[in-house]
Amino acid sequence: MSTVTQGGPSLPQERRVVTEIPGPKSREMFARKQAAVPPGIGTTLPVFVTHAGGGVVVDADGNSLIDFGSGIAVTNVGNAAPRVVERVRRQVADFTHTCFMITPYESYVQVAEKLNEITPGDHEKRTFLLNSGAEAVENAVKVARHATGRQAVVVFDHGYHGRTLLTMSLTAKNMPYKQGFGPFAPEVYRVPLAYPFRWPSGPENCAEEAAAQAIDQINKQVGAENVAAVLIEPIAGEGGFIEPAKGFLPRIAEFCRANGIVFIADEVQTGFARTGDLFACEDEGVVPDIIVTAKGIAGGLPLAAVTGRAEILDKVHVGGLGGTYGGNPLACEAALGVLETIEADDLVGRARRIGEVMLPRLRAIADKSPIVGDVRGRGAMIAIELVVPGTREPHPTAAGEIARRCHAEGLLVLTAGTYGNVLRFLPPLVMPDHLLEEGLAILEKVVSEI
Ligand SMILES: Cc1ncc(COP(=O)(O)O)c(C=O)c1O
Repeated sequence: MSTVTQGGPSLPQERRVVTEIPGPKSREMFARKQAAVPPGIGTTLPVFVTHAGGGVVVDADGNSLIDFGSGIAVTNVGNAAPRVVERVRRQVADFTHTCFMITPYESYVQVAEKLNEITPGDHEKRTFLLNSGAEAVENAVKVARHATGRQAVVVFDHGYHGRTLLTMSLTAKNMPYKQGFGPFAPEVYRVPLAYPFRWPSGPENCAEEAAAQAIDQINKQVGAENVAAVLIEPIAGEGGFIEPAKGFLPRIAEFCRANGIVFIADEVQTGFARTGDLFACEDEGVVPDIIVTAKGIAGGLPLAAVTGRAEILDKVHVGGLGGTYGGNPLACEAALGVLETIEADDLVGRARRIGEVMLPRLRAIADKSPIVGDVRGRGAMIAIELVVPGTREPHPTAAGEIARRCHAEGLLVLTAGTYGNVLRFLPPLVMPDHLLEEGLAILEKVVSEI
């Protein structure tokens, strides 16, 4: 039984499995969940959490799991990170809401100033705040349409942008995100993504051929002059941590520049030090016109942002943007605590170090296990793609089975991918090395048993 009274980094940084997983208390709560919550809200691992911090998640039965998920790339600074907790604690006692559009407060402006400063490009920028990644993507598209007077939006194979009507329409994968939820929003056009592992003529031709195909399709099927925005994740997240072949992103950005198209980078999953840069676009020096952020921005409090060129964002009339809760003062304080933590604790460097530990270990696993077709990613955004041995045929059942066995051992991993055959690893950037090593050892053992 757990004696833990507080979460955050002071939690014992250890894997501890004291019951079967899920244990009896979690099973009891899960039965209540099934009676009270619709099944459409799925569950990756039905353990009910009581505390979390550093690199672990502690459940109601007293199990302490190694966290390779960060609540889907959210708790980059760790759960209940001290600077976040302290700022939110102070704010919640001062005031909880005024609506920034009614009577503003400084922390919103500070977050905007900071994002204008740290996002790629030294042009003049503006930032406004929303509640979720999907809401921010929708707003980026609204702004791009308004600024260009055009309607079409171009997105990519394997892209994921959210679950609202527009963002579901922008998302590539049907099941489970779109199935039965149509009709979808119009003026959305999908073009190929440079997916090196699955490019028919080989990874060496991928960037050039994919960019040529994408641009040709835009020109032929849409007309560049009708395109308001091209929207892309610099590393496709839900699609399976697909890092586009080098050269693809700069080529697409250049095409946008030449044709007056707003280039929007969806950095909802890749942002805030996750990939070993503050933002993934930096890897190839790509400067988006608009960058959309969420997830890692506020350590788990709901916040998202649209940051972009002043001349684009300033076009929208007064009152054309906003929402009741966007930039809530608690979430803004949390974001300031996150940004301080990333800087003070060099979490960009820490993400790189995680990649340096994980990638060679995973490549060694792949060398021994023909079921692992590809190892990829940057920083602390790493994945393995599972295939039927000797082929490139996706192997989703293997991914599911490995995830299940890791969970049973007390290692929380997530799956992803258009074909459901990717295991993705997103440890909090503050995870200590010994937990990272222990998690990798569990993974190695489980993969060797499949
Ligand atoms: C790249 C990307 N865009 C948008 C979203 C949607 O964000 P939210 O779930 O906060 O609406 C996600 C969520 O996973 C994402 O990964």
